Formats: sequence, structure tokens, C-alpha cells
Amino acid sequence: MKEKLKTIIKMGLFLIPLLFFYLVLIAQNQEATSTFEYAEDNQQCLKCHGHTYYNYYNDWLERMIRERMNPYFIVDSAEYYEANHRNFACIDCHTSEYENFPHNGELRMEPKYACMDCHGGDDTYAKFNFEQIESEFYNSIHSSKHSDDFTCWMCHNPHSYKISARTNRHLNKTIQYDNNICLSCHADISKYQLLTTLENPNILETHSWLPNQVLHFQSVRCIECHTEINNYILVAHNVQAKDKAVQRCVECHSQNSILKETLYKYQNEGFSYSENRDRSLEIPKLIGGNRRYMLNLASVIIFILVLGGISIHAVLRIILKPR
Ligand code: HEC
Ligand code: HEC
Ligand code: HEC
Ligand code: HEC
Ligand code: HEC
Ligand code: HEC
Ligand code: HEC
Repeated sequence: MKEKLKTIIKMGLFLIPLLFFYLVLIAQNQEATSTFEYAEDNQQCLKCHGHTYYNYYNDWLERMIRERMNPYFIVDSAEYYEANHRNFACIDCHTSEYENFPHNGELRMEPKYACMDCHGGDDTYAKFNFEQIESEFYNSIHSSKHSDDFTCWMCHNPHSYKISARTNRHLNKTIQYDNNICLSCHADISKYQLLTTLENPNILETHSWLPNQVLHFQSVRCIECHTEINNYILVAHNVQAKDKAVQRCVECHSQNSILKETLYKYQNEGFSYSENRDRSLEIPKLIGGNRRYMLNLASVIIFILVLGGISIHAVLRIILKPR
């Protein structure tokens, strides 16, 4: 009897963690489905805007019609649900009149929200320093040359922008992500010419002075060389005229490399986030960037010792040479 009771208690003890694990799983599952509150509503838009083709019922012809979606109007739903604004319904930012199709032609004139309409003066986002970013942006060459046409959305795609520098543990992924933002215009004439009729200068040619350019574009961001350094925001936004760009190798390849203030800034106090502490391991060994005084001294001493050794050896061999 006692033995049976013991085994029952033992089994019970064994089952408790299992039960707990099961409950956690259920809780997590519920979280996953409730994360995207508007997923179903958004599907009403994404059934057309998420695909290359869309279908609609044509009342005049009284039949279904299949057409191609304008590629610039396609919203990638996978990217959308990873983006900063993944918890949004499409009609939080667009008028609900878009629920009707064909869309009313006048809707294209609908004014769009700006970042600051939602983020301005909101303490929740204080750590992102929206106000400072905005004023840096207004000083930038893009904004000063193109007035209101150049908006924040030009770099921050409304349907896919997600923070990377702050959260991504892989430095090279952040570099690629950030550079692709610039290259979306500077390597794509169609977006570039939305703003200007100028020819788009070939980035590869204008940067041919950089040795091993491919490696440099993989190891640093465009903004390292093209923005004014500051120490109060994580991502500098003041893109400057080309004659102010960094060209001198020693600005990076030296002990007080500017990269400490830019790309590797997250290591500094105030910008060190626990979630990406591992990234310190990934900082590449920059030529000229990691000089150590003691190491330099040691190598000089070793050099002198070796030289001394060789000369003593040579002298001894000359003296002791059998005649
Ligand atoms: C039946 C397919 C279909 C559905 C459903 C649909 N759209 Fe569209 N949408 C289109 C097509 C086609 C265009 C481009 C031609 C046009 O404007 O009619 C378009 C254009 C747009 C534009 C760009 C307008 C412009 O010219 O700048 C926006 C914004 C838009 N849709 C938002 C939405 C939103 C938000 C929803 C959901 C509430 C939605 N659409 C649902 C097919 C659809
Ligand atoms: C955070 C606000 C926001 C949300 C959420 C949002 N949009 Fe947009 N959308 C914009 C802005 C801003 C633009 C204009 C972009 C520009 O001017 O470059 C835009 C443009 C568009 C366009 C026209 C394409 C273009 O480049 O002009 C379509 C189509 C569109 N949105 C569909 C959608 C659909 C579908 C959803 C939901 C899955 C959605 N949007 C959710 C802000 C939003
Ligand atoms: C319609 C209002 C609205 C607009 C417009 C808007 N945002 Fe947001 N944004 C929000 C809200 C609300 C959140 C919080 C979302 C959440 O917690 O799910 C947010 C979150 C963010 C975050 C934090 C993401 C994170 O993971 O902590 C960043 C960064 C951000 N937005 C940048 C921008 C930028 C840049 C623009 C303009 C290009 C912009 N937002 C436009 C409302 C907006
Ligand atoms: C020329 C391109 C460009 C323009 C224009 C631009 N940004 Fe950015 N922004 C970037 C890049 C690149 C990043 C880095 C993205 C990353 O890795 O997280 C960034 C990051 C940010 C962040 C996140 C910073 C952090 O601390 O994590 C915010 C917030 C932001 N931008 C707001 C804005 C606002 C507001 C505007 C308009 C006033 C704007 N941006 C205009 C390129 C741009
Ligand atoms: C190592 C520093 C460095 C990096 C990294 C860098 N640039 Fe540059 N960039 C320069 C310098 C210096 C010039 C000026 C060259 C000249 O005037 O001959 C320049 C020129 C330019 C110009 C003006 C070209 C013209 O002739 O009008 C553009 C546009 C540009 N860069 C964009 C970018 C983009 C986009 C990236 C990222 C993919 C990038 N740069 C990365 C240093 C850099
Ligand atoms: C929406 C398109 C677009 C994006 C995104 C963009 N640029 Fe530009 N950029 C332009 C245009 C257009 C010009 C030409 C300005 C002019 O001379 O009228 C320009 C000019 C420049 C210049 C040259 C200024 C000069 O002195 O001639 C530099 C440098 C530059 N951009 C760097 C960047 C960097 C760095 C990024 C990413 C953070 C970036 N751009 C993102 C459109 C863009
Ligand atoms: C914006 C900062 C920056 C500037 C300016 C810069 N570099 Fe670099 N350079 C780097 C980084 C980061 C690496 C990558 C280190 C690594 O991954 O090994 C690198 C790598 C190199 C390498 C190693 C390439 C290889 O094949 O392994 C050489 C050589 C080099 N740079 C030379 C130069 C010269 C010469 C200049 C001036 C014309 C210059 N760099 C300007 C940041 C810079």
C-alpha cells in the first residue's frame, strides 16, 4: 500500500513540470495568434496587395477579372509582420475607404502621416530621440535640396522598416540592411529620379579610390563616411555634401578611429544594450586600429635581442673559425 502511494506521488512529481511546460506552451501559442490583432482585417487588403495578381468581380462585364498588381503597390506580408509597425491595421494609416474596390480615384491625394505625427513629443520613444533625428534630417543634403518631397518614408519603407542597429546581433547584417536603404536610390535610377532628373552617379565608380571596395562596403556603412558625427543619437541622420565625406584612410585605420563613434557606437556608454552585447566579439580587426603600446615595445625588444643574437653568433663564428 505504502509502496503504491510512493509511486503515485513520484509520478505526480514527475508530471508537475510536464503540466507546467504544457501550460507555458498554450500561453505562448495564444500570444502568437493575438500578436497580430489585425491580421484578418489586413488580409482583406493583402489578398490583392500581397500578390503579383489579383482578382475582382467586374459588375459591368458580370464576371471575374484577373489582373497584374502594380509592382510598386505590392506589400510583402512576411516583411510587414516583422516590421516596427506590424501591429497596425492597414487602415490605421490609410483611409478605410480603401475597403471598396475600385478605389475612389481621389484617394491618391490623401495626405499621409509623418513619423512625427505619432512619435513627436512621446516619452515612450524617448530613447530613439526622434526630435534630434528630425532636426538632423532637416539639415541633411537630402532634405535641404529636395524640400518636402524627401520624407522620412523615402528611407523608412512604411511596410517593412524595422530597427536593426539597435537590436540585430549580427553587425554585418545591420551594415547590409542600412546600406540597402541608401542603395534603394543610389543604385536604382527609378526611385532616384522620383526626386531629380539628374543622372544617378555610379556608386562603384565614384568610390573606386577605396582599395578592396567590396570588402569596405561590407564592413562599414555609407553613413560612416557621409554623415556628421554626433554622440547623442545612435544613427546619425545628417547626410552631408560629398566634399565633406570621409576620404582619409587614417580616420578609420588608426587608434582613435571614427568608427568608435559611429559603427561601433553601441559599445559606448548609453548605447550599450544588453540584447546585443555579444556583438563586441564581432568587431573586425581593423588594420592600424588595435595598436598596443606594450606589444609595440615587446616587439622592438625582441627585434633588438634577435639582432644581438645574430651578431654575437656571427662574431663568434669569425673568431672561432678553424683555419
Ligand atoms: C480587389 C483588389 C484590391 C483590394 C481588396 C485592395 N486594393 Fe488597394 N489597390 C488595388 C489596385 C489594383 C490598385 C492600383 C490601381 C488603383 O488605384 O485602383 C490599388 C491601389 C492602392 C493604393 C495606392 C493608391 C495610389 O494611387 O497611390 C493604396 C494606398 C491602396 N490600394 C490601399 C489599399 C488598402 C489599405 C486596402 C484594404 C483596406 C486595399 N487597398 C484593398 C487593388 C486592391
Ligand atoms: C504606419 C503606417 C502605414 C501602415 C500600417 C500601412 N501603410 Fe501603406 N503607406 C503608408 C505611407 C506613408 C505610404 C506612402 C509612402 C510614400 O510616400 O513613399 C503608403 C503607401 C502605400 C501604397 C502605395 C505604394 C506606394 O509606394 O506609394 C499601398 C498600395 C499601401 N500603402 C498599402 C498598404 C497595405 C495593404 C497595408 C497593410 C498591410 C498598409 N499599406 C499599411 C503608411 C502605412
Ligand atoms: C500612425 C502612427 C505612426 C506613424 C506614422 C509612425 N509610427 Fe512608428 N510606431 C507607432 C506605434 C504606435 C509604435 C509602437 C508599436 C508597437 O509597440 O507595436 C511604433 C513603433 C516604432 C518604433 C519602435 C519599434 C520597436 O520595436 O521598439 C520605431 C523605431 C518607429 N516606430 C519609427 C517610426 C518611423 C521612423 C516612422 C516614420 C518613417 C514612424 N515610426 C511612423 C506609430 C507610428
Ligand atoms: C537617407 C535615409 C534616411 C532618412 C531620410 C531618414 N532615416 Fe531614419 N534611419 C536611416 C537608417 C539607415 C537607419 C538605421 C536603421 C537601423 O539599422 O536600425 C535609421 C534609423 C532611424 C531610427 C532608429 C534609431 C535608433 O536609435 O534605433 C529612427 C527613430 C529614425 N531613423 C527616424 C527617422 C525620422 C523621424 C526621419 C525623418 C525626419 C528619418 N529617420 C529619416 C536612414 C534614414
Ligand atoms: C570610406 C568612406 C565612404 C563610404 C563607405 C561611402 N562613401 Fe560615398 N563618397 C565618399 C567620398 C570621399 C566621396 C567623394 C568622392 C569624390 O568627390 O570624388 C563620396 C561620394 C559619394 C556620392 C556622390 C557621388 C557624385 O559623384 O556625385 C554619393 C551619392 C555617395 N558617395 C553615396 C554613397 C553610398 C550610397 C554609400 C554606401 C553604399 C557610400 N557612399 C559609401 C566616401 C564614402
Ligand atoms: C529616396 C532616394 C534616396 C535615398 C534613399 C538616399 N539618397 Fe542620397 N541622394 C538622393 C538624391 C536624389 C540625391 C541628389 C541630390 C541633388 O544633387 O539634387 C542624393 C545625393 C546624395 C549625396 C551627394 C550629395 C552631393 O554633394 O552631391 C550623398 C553623399 C548621398 N546622397 C548619400 C546618401 C546616403 C548615405 C544614403 C543612405 C543613408 C542616401 N543617400 C539615401 C536620393 C536618395
Ligand atoms: C569608414 C572607415 C574606413 C575608411 C575611411 C577606410 N577604411 Fe579600410 N577598412 C575599414 C574596415 C572596417 C575594414 C575591414 C576590416 C576587416 O574586416 O578586416 C577595412 C579594410 C581595409 C583593408 C583590408 C582589405 C583586405 O583585403 O583585407 C585595407 C588594405 C584597407 N582597408 C585600406 C584602406 C585604405 C588604403 C583606405 C583609404 C583610401 C581605407 N582603407 C579607408 C574601414 C575603413
